[in-house]
Amino acid sequence: MDNGNGKWCPIASLADLSHDKPLEVIVDEAVVILLRVEDEVVAYQGLCPHQFARLAHGHVAAGSIHCPQHKACFDLRDGACGPGWLLPALRQYSVRVDTAGIVSLASPLSIKTTPT
Ligand code: FES
Repeated sequence: MDNGNGKWCPIASLADLSHDKPLEVIVDEAVVILLRVEDEVVAYQGLCPHQFARLAHGHVAAGSIHCPQHKACFDLRDGACGPGWLLPALRQYSVRVDTAGIVSLASPLSIKTTPT
């Protein structure tokens, strides 16, 4: 199915996703993590912008994910890096969930933009 710039690639079922354990997938040769945040599904780059640790092995608590390597944390609402670190925000990708609970990512990956 076309998303305007490419196609939507089904990559998981909503039932595969949790609020506290990221699911790691590879899309367009990029590592991506998916998880549920409240009633939404979010998709972020799966490698830490510091030294590329796999965030799928990170710890999720209080709306943030903590890198398993050096413990930088990133807000799961927008990917922003938490206090004590000068790192870029995690790239957030466009994701959709259809009525059957199939979770899809745009391919090529599309950076999610926030409405202004
Ligand atoms: S690799 Fe993630 S904080 Fe260093």
